[in-house]
Amino acid sequence: MLESPNSEREFLNMRITVVGSGYVGLVAGACFADLGHDVILVDNDERKLAALKNGQVPIHENFLPELLQRHRGHRLTFSADLQEAVRGSAAIFIAVGTPPTDRGDADLSYVESVAREISGAITGYKVIVEKSTVPVYTSDWVRKIILRNGADPESFDVASNPEFLREGTAVTDFLFPDRILVGCNNQRCAAVLREIYAPLTSGSYYQHPDAIPQPDRTSVPAPIIVTSTQSAELIKHACNAFLAMKISFINAVASICESVGADVNQVCHGIGADSRIGPRFLNPGIGYGGSCFPKDVMAFRAVARECGYDFRLLDEVMRINEDQRDRFLRKVRSALWTLRGKHLGVLGLAFKGGTDDIRESPAILIVQALLQEGCKITAYDPAAMERAQEAMNSGLKFARSSYEAAHGADALLILTEWEEFASLDLRRLHQELKYPIVIDGRNLYDPEVMATNGFTYYSVGRAAAHPETTPTAVKAMKNGTNQA
Ligand SMILES: NC(=O)c1ccc[n+]([C@@H]2O[C@H](COP(=O)([O-])OP(=O)(O)OC[C@H]3O[C@@H](n4cnc5c(N)ncnc54)[C@H](O)[C@@H]3O)[C@@H](O)[C@H]2O)c1
Repeated sequence: MLESPNSEREFLNMRITVVGSGYVGLVAGACFADLGHDVILVDNDERKLAALKNGQVPIHENFLPELLQRHRGHRLTFSADLQEAVRGSAAIFIAVGTPPTDRGDADLSYVESVAREISGAITGYKVIVEKSTVPVYTSDWVRKIILRNGADPESFDVASNPEFLREGTAVTDFLFPDRILVGCNNQRCAAVLREIYAPLTSGSYYQHPDAIPQPDRTSVPAPIIVTSTQSAELIKHACNAFLAMKISFINAVASICESVGADVNQVCHGIGADSRIGPRFLNPGIGYGGSCFPKDVMAFRAVARECGYDFRLLDEVMRINEDQRDRFLRKVRSALWTLRGKHLGVLGLAFKGGTDDIRESPAILIVQALLQEGCKITAYDPAAMERAQEAMNSGLKFARSSYEAAHGADALLILTEWEEFASLDLRRLHQELKYPIVIDGRNLYDPEVMATNGFTYYSVGRAAAHPETTPTAVKAMKNGTNQA
């Protein structure tokens, strides 16, 4: 039972199984343990299980090492035996992958195989919870599969509890969520999920002295939204599609800014100040990536098609996203003229800052395209180099720092928005590069500051800056006062 000195009542600690110990399952399992529950994390990847049991942390995520250290072997155990875990648990969260098929819809075969295996172990009432992102009606299918395999209809319910965490801030997103979404088709099942999340919805977790610190711009306690399972499934897909649309929208606006000489950062500031729109997800760049947005937009498009609705807006969201990478490649070409044999330094391989995940990373796609055009690339990423090395067969060299990546390069490309890339020592960077050209796909620097420091600087949705054309730069260079 979680100690919660200021809460009005103590909450039941539950025995929970989480199936799948990837980015979502591992974080959810560790956080459930921190809420006071007893958690068994099940995975069929023996290597991953062995690493977890040995104290390794297989993904890069803030606060995860602390939580694993705190609960491993006590409230958090690891197992390959799904049936045994299910027998002892009140709730089973399915957090396995739902990758895209060739047709663009979600491959639910991992979810189905877990549902089949669970059915034989349902003894006493259990709630089976979809944590993976799945299309509407998946919960009905999960129920059918479990029934087909002999489970008593009264002995279980299937609920939807989509996960909204973002890689890079996954632990704090889980513990300080904007909302907890629970899709249930009856009260009994909703009550189990309410109990599991009670430490967050009552606020008792946040009063615990060891609670993970509250990030800025979050409010507690966490609100819970209870809907039907179909609504919950749809909310998750619609949410990701909307966020992807926001990114594509601002990237399209950035392209117009480039044509008319406007500054997209100023435009974003002006748009985002409208409280109906808000400033978040208005970051122009090289497009969205990762394991969620690309596949979820495609899957939602497929769901709509299946329902007889032609959701062409989503086609456009995807097209703009792909274009954005091509536009960036054109920028590299126009900055360097020919590419064959050019030596490029690359900062960033992860699909975004704060994670080691390179799935559908626009940075990786750009690096691959440039390698194909004959560039020689030396890349640096604070967390994703090991994964990139496994995924890319050859041709890419790795550096131990941003400056080593820049050393002797014809130009430096910034492809991921890691915080450390936004505060480079510009004087040193200038010295390392063969030519002081920076092509920034994440708008981490002020063009005028870069020009003042002697760089030719290209970014997204803003005019290129050249040392000789910026008045401050000319003045500073004349006075010999260029500053890093
Ligand atoms: N990664 C994110 O940021 C994020 C955020 C919200 C939702 N989601 C959704 O959550 C789901 C999981 O995503 P992820 O990024 O954690 O995936 P992942 O690929 O990192 O992890 C999936 C895990 O499931 C395991 N697995 C597969 N089949 C199994 C089986 N039959 N039995 C036991 N384990 C099995 C795999 O070995 C792997 O460890 C997806 O549907 C995804 O769309 C992901």
